[in-house]
Amino acid sequence: MTRVLAIETSCDETAASVVSFGDQAAAGTPSGPPALLSGPARVLSSVVSSQVDLHARYGGVVPELAGRAHLDLLTPVVAQALVEAGVADRPDGRPDLDAVAATVGPGLIGSLLVGVSAAKAMALAWDIPFVGVNHLEGHLAAAFLEEPDLDPPLVVLLVSGGHTMLVLMQGPGSYRVLGQTIDDAAGEAFDKVARFLGLGYPGGPAIDRAAMEGDPKAVEFPRAMRDEGYDFSFSGIKTSVVTYVRKHPEAAVIDVAASFQEAVVDVLVTKARRAALDLGARGLCLAGGVAANSLLRERTLDVCIAEGLHPFIPSRAFCTDNAAMIGAAAAWRLAASGPSPLDLGADPNLGLD
Ligand code: KG4
Ligand code: ZN
Repeated sequence: MTRVLAIETSCDETAASVVSFGDQAAAGTPSGPPALLSGPARVLSSVVSSQVDLHARYGGVVPELAGRAHLDLLTPVVAQALVEAGVADRPDGRPDLDAVAATVGPGLIGSLLVGVSAAKAMALAWDIPFVGVNHLEGHLAAAFLEEPDLDPPLVVLLVSGGHTMLVLMQGPGSYRVLGQTIDDAAGEAFDKVARFLGLGYPGGPAIDRAAMEGDPKAVEFPRAMRDEGYDFSFSGIKTSVVTYVRKHPEAAVIDVAASFQEAVVDVLVTKARRAALDLGARGLCLAGGVAANSLLRERTLDVCIAEGLHPFIPSRAFCTDNAAMIGAAAAWRLAASGPSPLDLGADPNLGLD
């Protein structure tokens, strides 16, 4: 059994988790079976301290404040994760862990550096491997925490505040990016529209809640690029919402929110469905913060039932940023290529390819 302490500080959540895996995760054999496909991962603890209140009055994440808050919060969050997981000390005083992982990118550089530096310091002090994890790979790994028997090939719709992409996953660590947004990310559109509608921050959950009371057919917002290719565009719909509300100041906010959400989800699910069918995927998987959206989850399930695809929809807590998903991806990395060198730096623009 391998136990990994994972740390996530790429944006505005300070998170730590202890995840345990079958033995092969530690073996570091490139040809060995992928750890999470051959045995369940166990999330022994997953602590997430959100900085939402800190950033709310600015209407978005302030990078300098986020970095400083991570510094204050990381030690207590890690301590809580170790206690909740029941990690005991070894006779020599070191905690009973086999590796320390941290998100190395993409994200805010000041925030990433806090987690990466802390993880390296712990790895050095405790004489255990350090594993640098790609945040996007973490989101892709999240579904495997609850469904270890995911059967590739899968099409994953990865939708977060910074990214919107369709990925063909042939197995852990083996991806092809089919398409991505050419402008705003889906989560960014939710956040900007929510701010414009006065629904507050963070915008995604606020629109999700408001939309439950509204009429999704009230306004026909544009579905950019819905029926062509696998790329996305969400900046146009944001402008359409602003234009519509200025022309119709009497419009009910809940109806605008519901109609906006309907249009975004329609585009996301239509493209994900087409990709899954075109590429002969066995399943369709959601990942990233926007995957917590109620309508997106419902429509994805509907499409999977209609098309005979296996749906993989992680719990909401594993969709939004968390460290358990970083632990899951760390197991893939350990199995595929072993520990990361200690001179591996944080990379705010790290891509999936
Ligand atoms: O993955 P995540 O936690 O952080 C990034 O890596 O970006 O995603 C955050 C994004 C935000 O834009 C937030 O508004 C959106 O996910 N989000 C949602 C919902 N919950 C979070 N969007 C729509 N509906 C939700 N329920
Ligand atoms: Zn994320």
